Amino acid sequence: MSGPQNEGVAASPDVVIAARDLTRRYGKSTVVDAINFNIAKGEVFGLLGPNGAGKTTTILMMLGLTEISAGRVSVLGFDPARAPLQVKRRVGYLPDAVGFYDHLTAVENLAYVAKLMGLSVAERSQRIVAALTRVRLLEVANKRVATYSRGMRQRLGLAEIIVKRAEIAILDEPTSGLDPQATLEFLDLIRELKAEGVTVLLSSHMLDQVQRVCDRVALFRDGRIVMMGSVAELAVQVLGAGFVVEVEAEGAGIARRLAAIPGVGNVETLAEDRFRMTAEHDVRPDAARAVVAANGALRRLSVDEPSLEAIYARYFQAAQSGGVRDAA
Ligand SMILES: Nc1ncnc2c1ncn2[C@@H]1O[C@H](COP(=O)(O)OP(=O)(O)OP(=O)(O)O)[C@@H](O)[C@H]1O
Ligand SMILES: [Mg+2]
Repeated sequence: MSGPQNEGVAASPDVVIAARDLTRRYGKSTVVDAINFNIAKGEVFGLLGPNGAGKTTTILMMLGLTEISAGRVSVLGFDPARAPLQVKRRVGYLPDAVGFYDHLTAVENLAYVAKLMGLSVAERSQRIVAALTRVRLLEVANKRVATYSRGMRQRLGLAEIIVKRAEIAILDEPTSGLDPQATLEFLDLIRELKAEGVTVLLSSHMLDQVQRVCDRVALFRDGRIVMMGSVAELAVQVLGAGFVVEVEAEGAGIARRLAAIPGVGNVETLAEDRFRMTAEHDVRPDAARAVVAANGALRRLSVDEPSLEAIYARYFQAAQSGGVRDAA
């Protein structure tokens, strides 16, 4: 197969992964149930949801590693079920448990991958040294992988993706089992990939981490995507507001001016000189300008960003009590 097929699925050239009614059944149970999403080039996209929600199964279908029961998925224009090799060549995959040849060193493992790609000896060693430097494994490059910690193995997994020069990195629970420091370093590496234009799809339970690194998230529940968007968008949808901004200032008509700021929901007057408002985005600069416009004196300005933790908790509470709030 030469050029991309499956064009019907990918909506625009910016879309690198597109799922349409993507479904996986095992016997009678539907574990991924007609999900739809588009992921744009350069995006960091998070799959979230409880154990068994269908995140890994979705990932495996994108890679052609498990059968698709119904619907379609397109990866870089390819149908992974029909062209798994084209997908594998251009997509890096870090599975839940990374499999390396434990008796070989990091360099030997990467050399094996690079050789399969048909790279020259010089190109191989140049890319391997560069990748191991990036993930800070150069010092232990010649130790057997059997001696590596979980964090080191995860970083070696990223090194493999870097050596491949993958256009998409698919990471299944990449930070589970890592200590806080290793987690922060790993998230930095994900940001570096994004900065280079790599599209990153990751699954995670660790909501605050996902929040820090993802541009958009899809919340899975029983095989369905129940919410999708940026954290700020979901906060508005589920919590009714994204940001809570507090202003302490003296001046005439400040509450009225704050209420007129685009994206501001309601303004509460806590005291003569204290106001709290909900907003769709961080409106601190506008609030400061409003105070200046009122010839007021600004004493304090603070913002509470929406947390994915709160969105998730609220959503599942609402779902359990029978009524899920729709868009506010
Ligand atoms: N090979 C299989 N045969 C039968 N059922 C399976 C198979 N693989 C997965 N399942 C079921 O599909 C559902 C979704 O599993 P999946 O691994 O995709 O969930 P997940 O969201 O990745 O969960 P976790 O957070 O635990 O990794 C689960 O109910 C699981 O039992
Ligand atoms: Mg999983």
